Amino acid sequence: MAIARRACTNIAAICLLLCYSEEVSCEVTTGEATGKFNVSAANAHANAINRGILDPTAKVFNVLQFGAKPGDKEDRHNIDSNHMAFVKAFEAACHHEGKARLVIPRGTFVLGPVTFMGPCNNTPLIVQIQGTIKAITDISEFPGQGEEWVNFQNINGLVVTGSGTFDGQGASCWKYRDTKNDNNVPGQRLPANIQFVEVSNAIVRGITSVNSKGFHYFITGCKNIRLYHLNIIAPDESPNTDGIHISQSDVVKIAKSYIGTGDDCVGMIRGSSNVSVKKVTCGPGHGISVGSLGKYDNETDVKGIIVKDCTLVGTQNGLRIKTYEGKSASRASSMIFQDIVMKNVKHPIIIDQFYGGKDKDSIVKINDIQFINITGTSVSKVAVDIACSKHHPCQNVHLSNINLKYSGNDNDQAPFSSSCVNAHVGYHGLQLPPPCR
Ligand SMILES: *[C@@H]1O[C@H](CO)[C@@H](O)[C@H](O)[C@H]1NC(C)=O
Ligand SMILES: *[C@@H]1O[C@H](CO)[C@@H](O)[C@H](O)[C@H]1NC(C)=O
Ligand SMILES: *[C@@H]1O[C@H](CO)[C@@H](O)[C@H](O)[C@H]1NC(C)=O
Ligand SMILES: *[C@@H]1O[C@H](CO)[C@@H](O)[C@H](O)[C@H]1NC(C)=O
Repeated sequence: MAIARRACTNIAAICLLLCYSEEVSCEVTTGEATGKFNVSAANAHANAINRGILDPTAKVFNVLQFGAKPGDKEDRHNIDSNHMAFVKAFEAACHHEGKARLVIPRGTFVLGPVTFMGPCNNTPLIVQIQGTIKAITDISEFPGQGEEWVNFQNINGLVVTGSGTFDGQGASCWKYRDTKNDNNVPGQRLPANIQFVEVSNAIVRGITSVNSKGFHYFITGCKNIRLYHLNIIAPDESPNTDGIHISQSDVVKIAKSYIGTGDDCVGMIRGSSNVSVKKVTCGPGHGISVGSLGKYDNETDVKGIIVKDCTLVGTQNGLRIKTYEGKSASRASSMIFQDIVMKNVKHPIIIDQFYGGKDKDSIVKINDIQFINITGTSVSKVAVDIACSKHHPCQNVHLSNINLKYSGNDNDQAPFSSSCVNAHVGYHGLQLPPPCR
């Protein structure tokens, strides 16, 4: 703690550290927005529902009552009636004056893109998902960027809970993707399974997401959203299937979840602030990522990130910050990565400011980044790889108690090492691999 504190040069980093280590003072005063949403009560409620304890005073809006048809045949009639039923049931629940629970019961429901649009009258609206919702496979039915598959939009006070599954049926379209180009081609992103856009004060709990076409969860323009006990699953080779992709959002807390997917486990891009990721197991996939940053004009900063008590298994990267050359100067700062276990991770600790190419010096500034107590195994010889911008060298990157072992191929004669370019790196305690110079 003392070490960590010393490493923080700015007030924000210190505040962040203190406040995350003593949870209490960090809780958002959710009353500010609504006067009603109580995080711990909402979370307890979500948990109770998942244990079969239902609030008898809440009015139930079951999609079956609105004409939803179970079955996994992707026929026009089913798709249209399910769309209508889901929207009508949502609207009735959302506009109900009082406690409301939207229920998607056991069974399989085939569904095209749908938007659940607030504002709603209840704080919070409860959405209980017990069944499996299957996305239609025909990609031409999706409107393209901006709208994903299942969208929750403009809702203040939302609980999405249950043992149900969102199955994006992505396999049918992954094969058409060029993973190399995907990131750079506008309009090419495939729809996320679940999008939260302009949602505040929300809890998502227990849900499973499988085989998303694009991201599993896309969180954008949100404030105070918590994702607990999630299962996120897609094959290693599925392209751009980020587990939880966050942008332009403040206070996002992810905990106690399993994320095995084809791309980033958790990806935090422009405008992600006060994000915590705790007790999450990642793998396969590309690990926990800040970035890519610098891809868009006028990006807002990323700050206040804490990743703690996580395990990465067989991922391509462990903890990564990646930036492009950048279109306008932004900053990525105040991040703590602590108590992380790596199991056969290719690049356990990596800062890459040359994501767009070795000759493209980035104008994104990186400062106050701490890696504390990182243990386990690396399958590459350069287990700590910090490559920062020439014009804006990384400031105050601190490594404390790093204990990694090489678990790769015996034929590789290169030394187990760290690499630092344009970085001011501070060290404390054990350093394996040995520090730069
Ligand atoms: C929030 O709910 C919990 C019970 O779950 C209760 O103990 C607490 O007093 C509530 N807080 C506020 C500010 O109402
Ligand atoms: C993040 O949290 C800090 C500390 O609680 C707070 O001051 C700040 O307003 C929050 N949001 C952003 C965008 O920094
Ligand atoms: C970025 O900011 C500049 C200067 O304020 C402005 O002229 C430009 O339109 C902005 N670009 C976008 C895409 O918002
Ligand atoms: C280091 O991290 C491991 C794994 O999360 C944890 O079990 C251990 O207690 C941590 N050590 C210290 C000194 O905090």
